[in-house]
Amino acid sequence: MLSYRHAFHAGNFADVLKHSVLTLVLEYMTRKEKGFYYIDSHSGAGMYQPADEYAQKTGEYKDGIAKLIEQQDLPEALEPYIDLVKDLNREEDELSLYPGSPGIARQFTRRQDSAHLFELHPTDIEHLKEYSQRWNKSHVKQSDGYQGVLGLVPPPNRRGVVLIDPPYELKEDYLKAVRTIVNAYKKFATGTYILWYPVVKRELVEQMQSAFTKSDVRNVVQVEYCQKADTTEYGMTGTGLFIVNPPWQLSQQLEEILPYLKAKLGENETSYTLKQLIAE
Ligand SMILES: C[S@@+](CC[C@H](N)C(=O)[O-])C[C@H]1O[C@@H](n2cnc3c(N)ncnc32)[C@H](O)[C@@H]1O
Repeated sequence: MLSYRHAFHAGNFADVLKHSVLTLVLEYMTRKEKGFYYIDSHSGAGMYQPADEYAQKTGEYKDGIAKLIEQQDLPEALEPYIDLVKDLNREEDELSLYPGSPGIARQFTRRQDSAHLFELHPTDIEHLKEYSQRWNKSHVKQSDGYQGVLGLVPPPNRRGVVLIDPPYELKEDYLKAVRTIVNAYKKFATGTYILWYPVVKRELVEQMQSAFTKSDVRNVVQVEYCQKADTTEYGMTGTGLFIVNPPWQLSQQLEEILPYLKAKLGENETSYTLKQLIAE
């Protein structure tokens, strides 16, 4: 069942939170000379065009990146992400390109690093291959990303960032994603893992939290930004991330980012939470 296309959603409020965290994590990884693996289990197309028919159909980026990119009073923690998006568009008057997670990783991977990108969708894999053609240190595979992660850890240098960003078309994805991290952690406990989730049904998020707390995984931060209050009706009201072994300043940076997002993108019911779900 591969009906999900990220092009409809690229640059929305969920991408803003996920991609600003990814940017901060990758920037932190490049502070050391030693190379690292970037592993993206669900990569999408790599780069998106907000002017295309998909993005225009939903207009989601207009309530996300398009609002932020105009701001003059950005908190320091959001600058690396916004600067990256601005740099991609520096020749343009408008927002013509928006980076997916591989597009962000590409800006940070050096000669000593490598990116391992998994994608299943027949159209998006072709976009991703084309996008990665001249990216020497990238390895693109049309295969299952959950298996892909487990096959690549631990990386040779024992330094790595794993992003798990499933479409959640299937309910199984919620626990499968956590299980993948729990199993990868057994082989590579010092890696940084970022798991994205939508808030659609509160009990599904609680099941993920409980699977983490029952596991051996340590040092998990959970951040959530909800545009609307929880509801039993259909649709995504919020977005969240579990981050295992985050860089030491990440929580502090999120404390700057979250109120800013609420002020600039929020609605009446908007709320956020940030907690150390599992201690170090
Ligand atoms: C939410 S999107 C990814 C967005 C991307 N990570 C980003 O931040 O720009 C999820 C992607 O996972 C792909 N996908 C679904 N199941 C997969 C699987 N088992 N392995 C790899 N990719 C999968 C979908 O085709 C879709 O493109």
